[in-house]
Amino acid sequence: MRINRLQLVNFRQHADTSIEFGTGITGVIGPNGAGKTTILEAIAWCLYGTGAQRDKLETIRFQRAGERAQVKVVLDFELSGQRYRVNREMSRAEVYVNDDANPVANTKTGVNEFIQRRLGMTRVEFFNTYFTDQKQLSVMASMKPTERAHFLSRVLGYEKLRTAQDLVRERRKTILAEMSGLRAGMPDPDVVARTLAEAGKRAADSARLATERRRVHVECDAAFQQILPRWAAAQEAREALQKTTGEMQVAETEERSLLARGERIGADLNEIVQAGAELDDLRLRTERLPALTIELQRLDSLYREEGRRRTLAEQSREIATEIERLTAKKARIALAPEQEETVTLALEKHRATLEEVEGKLEARRTEWVRDKQEAQTKRQALLRQHGDIKEQLRILADLGPDGACPTCSRALGENFARVVESLTEQMDALTSDGKYFRKRMEELDGMPEDIKALDEARRTAAQEVGALERQLAKVQSAVLELTGVARELTDKEERQAQLVQEIAAMPEGFDAAEHARVRAQIEELTPLAVRVERLAALAEREPQIRTEYDEVAAMLVAHRGRSQELRAALAKIAFSEEEYLATKVEHERATGAARVAELQRITAEGELRAANASADSAREAATELAKREEKLSALKRARRIHDELDRAYSDLRSDLNAQLRPELSELASGFMAELTDSRYSELELTNDYDLTVLDDGVPKPVISGGEEDVAHLVLRLAISQMIAERAGQPFSLLVLDEIFGSLDEARRHNVINLLRRLHDRFEQVILITHIESVREGLDRVISVRYDEGSGSSRVEESAPSDDLAAALAGLPVLEPIAAAS
Ligand SMILES: Nc1ncnc2c1ncn2[C@@H]1O[C@H](COP(=O)(O)OP(=O)(O)OP(=O)(O)O)[C@@H](O)[C@H]1O
Ligand SMILES: [Mg+2]
Repeated sequence: MRINRLQLVNFRQHADTSIEFGTGITGVIGPNGAGKTTILEAIAWCLYGTGAQRDKLETIRFQRAGERAQVKVVLDFELSGQRYRVNREMSRAEVYVNDDANPVANTKTGVNEFIQRRLGMTRVEFFNTYFTDQKQLSVMASMKPTERAHFLSRVLGYEKLRTAQDLVRERRKTILAEMSGLRAGMPDPDVVARTLAEAGKRAADSARLATERRRVHVECDAAFQQILPRWAAAQEAREALQKTTGEMQVAETEERSLLARGERIGADLNEIVQAGAELDDLRLRTERLPALTIELQRLDSLYREEGRRRTLAEQSREIATEIERLTAKKARIALAPEQEETVTLALEKHRATLEEVEGKLEARRTEWVRDKQEAQTKRQALLRQHGDIKEQLRILADLGPDGACPTCSRALGENFARVVESLTEQMDALTSDGKYFRKRMEELDGMPEDIKALDEARRTAAQEVGALERQLAKVQSAVLELTGVARELTDKEERQAQLVQEIAAMPEGFDAAEHARVRAQIEELTPLAVRVERLAALAEREPQIRTEYDEVAAMLVAHRGRSQELRAALAKIAFSEEEYLATKVEHERATGAARVAELQRITAEGELRAANASADSAREAATELAKREEKLSALKRARRIHDELDRAYSDLRSDLNAQLRPELSELASGFMAELTDSRYSELELTNDYDLTVLDDGVPKPVISGGEEDVAHLVLRLAISQMIAERAGQPFSLLVLDEIFGSLDEARRHNVINLLRRLHDRFEQVILITHIESVREGLDRVISVRYDEGSGSSRVEESAPSDDLAAALAGLPVLEPIAAAS
């Protein structure tokens, strides 16, 4: 494979980049973050599509481009003499061959499949052969021994064996699971066989029993059928007997009732004949009854009037008494209105008198009380003054004439006697006044006579007012009563006049004896009149009764004839109750036996069906068991085959791995010697796929970081070469991203030299690095830098170092470029 041209539009930091690639060693050089690895990523994405980019697909669009800006990568490459162009965008892809106008594939899946087919490798395989990703170089160092073996096995394609082995193991697991499932669900063969035998026996027994029961049922049914006609005849005869007997009884009852009716009618006719004479006599005797009845009605009426008159007279008497009482009362209170006037006047006068006496009494009493209080107050004041002077005299007596005046503090001296005298005089005057007021108080202590007289006059006046008020109340109630009494008296007098009138209008002449006599006569004649009526009615109905009598006689004759007929028919019916009962018992027995036999037959048939069903299921279980046993032995065979296959794959992988290590060690050792200028000529891959550098055949326990990088690089190159040799197709491309790690300059030159020497195998090498000095020794340099203004990567081809020849001159192992390309 050879890459010719690559175009990137809005792919990550590359807004618009075009790169022409040639053969030989192309260096893609630029500082960190310039967009170098992005170029490789674009190649991978263009070929393999989604999944080959570093992050999620949405992150690849150039950040400064619009949301809908087109993202595109176009890659031109050659392979086995054919030219290809792949166009890939976010949502579409196309591939053209040899500049053909029409694409050979124009869908994303179509392009992916086409490329994978043409390159003969998957995306993963591609990355492990053509590409050595940044960071991939030392990836083995961080792995555990098994992971390393696994990795190598994967990159060299041995992994297919592991996948195949995994498939074999997976299948074996399924087989085992199936086997254990089969075993778990498989019944015990002994149990199945026993069940089958038992079910067969049960079915045979049931069949025998069912045949026997069917035979018994047929026999019982025949016996039942045989008795049926006899039983029907017996029932028929019994029914006929019952029917005729019933009819007989009806006819006899009818006959009896006709006879009774005839007798009743005959009696009526006799009565009619006898009634003829009696009727005339009775009619004569009851002739007066209507007149008597009218008389009784008149007397009854008079009797009722008499009773009413008595009631009214009683009422009239009561009213007369009442009128008398009311008249007396009216006369008693007739003067009440004049009395009311007189009493009112007297009351007003007495009230005035009372008011006047009360006024005087109040004034006098106030005066008396005031005098009393005045005398008391004055006396108390005198008593206080008397006490004070007495105290002063006592103090003076204590002080004596030499003492100092208690008021002015001067010596009393000759004033002492004068002061004592003056005070004594004052005391005497006070005592005399005190006595006067005490007397005055004693005088005022009892109520004065005039006040007593006034109080008495007030009480008398009040009593008179009270009496007059009571009298006025009485008179006023009499005035009110007078109107009511007058009205009531008028009402009673009117009612009395009405009663007198009513009593006067009532008829007279009620005779009680006559009334009793008439009533007795009517009571005697009434039953006779009833009999007259009955006999007259009988006589009236005579023709009709005679006709009825004739009809009953004719009906009686007819019924007697019918009874005779029925009796004859009854005699003809041949029925014996004993015979009937015997047939009934026989029929019931046959019915019961037939029913039992039928039930037993049905039960036996049911059992037969159940037995057949269990025999069937036992047979099915046996068949199923046989099938499962067969399947189980097939699975056992398959398991044996898969066991063997698994072993074979393991052996094969061990063999391949055993061969792989020495081969890889040899290739890597050759590269190592070249890169280290034969300082180290041996690189061994241990059992754990650990890299060990040998110095003169002795393993070096410690190697420098740079030496370790060299070791990893040579191993990676050895792997690439090995893959290329085994792949069997021209693997002319090698892409190495930042493989120098910590190699010193001389070693870096050696790497380039080595790559140059591998030119026959890898005609196109793309070397990505940020180390500027590597330019020297390259066939072509593509510079990549970040342009701050546009925020995108700028790519341009620059010439390798001018003093390349000079630089190379110092490196003995480096071959001339011209020769290499
Ligand atoms: N969609 C995008 N738009 C713009 N810039 C992006 C986008 N995706 C990634 N980048 C940026 O592109 C830059 C270049 O990345 P790349 O890996 O190509 O660098 P490099 O040159 O390989 O650097 P180093 O030498 O460190 O490996 C990074 O800084 C990254 O952040
Ligand atoms: Mg990079």
